[in-house]
Amino acid sequence: MPDLNKLIQTLHPLERAVIPVLENDIDALTVIRKTGMKEVEVMRALQWLENKGLVKINQTLKEIVNLDKNGALYVMEGMPEKRFLQALTEDESMTLDEIKDKAHLTKEEINICLGLLKKKGAIEILPRMRVDVTEEGRLLLGKESLEEQFLRKLPLDLAHMAKEEKYAYEELKKRKEIIKIDVTRIKKIKLTKTGEELSRLKLSDQFIDSLTQDVLSSGTWKEKNFRRYDVTINVPKIHGGRRHFVNQAVEYIKRVWLDMGFKEMKGNIVQTSFWNFDSLFTAQDHPVRDLQDTFYLKNPARGILPKKDLIDAIRKTHENGGNTGSKGWQYLWDRDESKKNVLRTHTTVLSAKTIAALKETDMPVKFFSVGKCFRNETVDWAHLFELTQVEGIVVDPNANLRHLLGYLRKFFSKMGYERIRIRPSYFPYTEPSAEIEAFHPVRKEWVELGGSGIFRPEVVKPLLGKDVPVLAWGLGMERMIGEYYNITDIRDLYRNDLRQLREMKVWMK
Ligand code: PHE
Repeated sequence: MPDLNKLIQTLHPLERAVIPVLENDIDALTVIRKTGMKEVEVMRALQWLENKGLVKINQTLKEIVNLDKNGALYVMEGMPEKRFLQALTEDESMTLDEIKDKAHLTKEEINICLGLLKKKGAIEILPRMRVDVTEEGRLLLGKESLEEQFLRKLPLDLAHMAKEEKYAYEELKKRKEIIKIDVTRIKKIKLTKTGEELSRLKLSDQFIDSLTQDVLSSGTWKEKNFRRYDVTINVPKIHGGRRHFVNQAVEYIKRVWLDMGFKEMKGNIVQTSFWNFDSLFTAQDHPVRDLQDTFYLKNPARGILPKKDLIDAIRKTHENGGNTGSKGWQYLWDRDESKKNVLRTHTTVLSAKTIAALKETDMPVKFFSVGKCFRNETVDWAHLFELTQVEGIVVDPNANLRHLLGYLRKFFSKMGYERIRIRPSYFPYTEPSAEIEAFHPVRKEWVELGGSGIFRPEVVKPLLGKDVPVLAWGLGMERMIGEYYNITDIRDLYRNDLRQLREMKVWMK
């Protein structure tokens, strides 16, 4: 049993206003009429009272039969069939056109009258399309029909009609726009036991609903009671703006690298093949450069190449190794091919550009980026054509593979993966190359999360001018964070479903 006094102190002014008129089975419309309050105010108050267990609101639908357009007209001017007969009784037999004019009927109404009156034996069809009224017709003219009585009585509740009313309703329903059905919602109120008790009390209005400067300075608060707030009551959820959950993870990942002393690399999504592939020692006939794997731009289809000496250095490295100590790929490098614009297929393109811009005095130095990449893939639960890569390079004369593992271990542990391992792999731009796998703490299996290695001299020397160890990695972010959000199909990361966005938990690693 709730404490009635406490309950009273929680009542909102709107609730206090409706309580005095409440009684069992009263409907909401009556409450509105009796209180003179607005509909929204009454509905709100009733809803709150229901939440507090003081009333129960039962909603029922009521179908009301009402006059439609023609019906309203006929009530005033008489039913067409009556006007039809009326016209005939005043004259000899008439043609349909004559009746139509005299009784002011439409062609449609004339047709309906014909059928109806013939069926009742009220008219007689004569040769040459003439019509005359019968004895029966004259009788009908003097009586009010069931239909007419029915129309006079409207509106009526469809569920509660007498037999004659039902008959008239069925007949009129067949005809055009005479009657219509309006559905109204009826909300009936039932008082609960506590509600009944409360409705018998006289509620004082000696309470303060909100604290204002006036209330304080005038000292009225001393004599009155404050309204109690019920913090347990149901209230509508308000969804404030928030960062997309994927972006929350992105922010965090950036923070992790920044905290480890890495600088951020940024760059365009559109890049030339020169930077995306050639600078990374990826031969011009390498399959990743196929249309099937890479998105090429239609417009502008070609971009601008860097300075001539860098182009030359890259060309020579591809053709015969240049001064890198390699034999290169042994083919004729095509300058035009390298101009083709692509949606970057990896953020490793940013690493190449960053190295090309480095000076001797900048080293040792570490960079990272978190950015979108694009691959012409068939989309399924594990693949998107748009993915986010977590990229990194460490340019340091003293760096080695152990350091690479150390950085990755640190990063993955901050992402919730305590165990990682590397496996030999292949990329055109690294030697050695390694695939990174992390042990999934929940699924209890190793999952592949990206590639890594040490950039080859064929990459570093043309870009930097000399060969320095550059540790490099590129990791797939979507797979990494899917687990945290309980998402197994990575398409669900970008569904833009408002409910999912609102309810998704906050990134808190
Ligand atoms: N670029 C590679 C990829 O797209 C990842 C990688 C980056 C591998 C750097 C080695 C070094 O998967």
